[in-house]
Amino acid sequence: MRVIIRDSKKEASIWAAHYIANAIKAKAEVTDAPFVLGLPTGSTPMDTYAELAKMCEAGEVSFKNVITFNMDEYVGIPEKHPESYHSFMYRNLFDKIDIPAGNIHILNGNAPDLDAECAAYEKAIEKAGGFDLFLGGVGEDGHIAFNEPFSSLESRTRVITLTPQTREVNSRFFDNDPEQVPAQALSVGVATVMGAKEVVVLAFGSKKAHAVKDAVEGPISHYCTLSAMQMHPAGIIACDDPAAGELKVNSYRYFKATE
Ligand code: GLP
Repeated sequence: MRVIIRDSKKEASIWAAHYIANAIKAKAEVTDAPFVLGLPTGSTPMDTYAELAKMCEAGEVSFKNVITFNMDEYVGIPEKHPESYHSFMYRNLFDKIDIPAGNIHILNGNAPDLDAECAAYEKAIEKAGGFDLFLGGVGEDGHIAFNEPFSSLESRTRVITLTPQTREVNSRFFDNDPEQVPAQALSVGVATVMGAKEVVVLAFGSKKAHAVKDAVEGPISHYCTLSAMQMHPAGIIACDDPAAGELKVNSYRYFKATE
């Protein structure tokens, strides 16, 4: 695993945007096959999305041959709800880039049969050729997508019951009322993310420091689902200095020196 540590969130976000744009361009040079990109929501990727939108507007990268699959969506709130992950993605990225509407995939948290929706999502990912790159964030408890602690590291897309802690943390988007945060979500599984050729996870701020420490230095454990990254041949955690703040001094020095 690589750990990229930058002084600020901004610098790490811009690094990630350029990394993604370069990966898209590198594939386009060798094949006409689309680039398949997994995407997260949350406050973490916002600067990366802003940079990608800026680069697209400047003609430095195009998303015309990019297919996206989002990680997750709440169950039971309307797509048009300002805090649905549908709304978030169009507001922060899709409305600002040249991606064809048909290339965008987001789980439908209002599907009549949620299990069938999840199974169809896995099929669609497979049909697209699998992920070239999955961008992710991490929860304070080390969850990737909505794979809460004790999710199987072999899990696939499915219905998840959110932990009280996640509802509490996400209540900042729902009038600070955890009761208003949907109790369930649909989420790609840990194995769905880890099946990508490359995984890039962003982590910013001291609130994420414990999760980063567990994922990088702890055992591989369903307690911190991000720790599955240790088994990935091309996994990167890109963080700011505060998020690296609980790494051992030697680990910190190692990553600073090598990256
Ligand atoms: C939610 C999302 C995750 C995200 C996490 C962290 O739980 N399902 O994909 O990584 O929140 O959110 P934030 O980036 O706002 O800290």
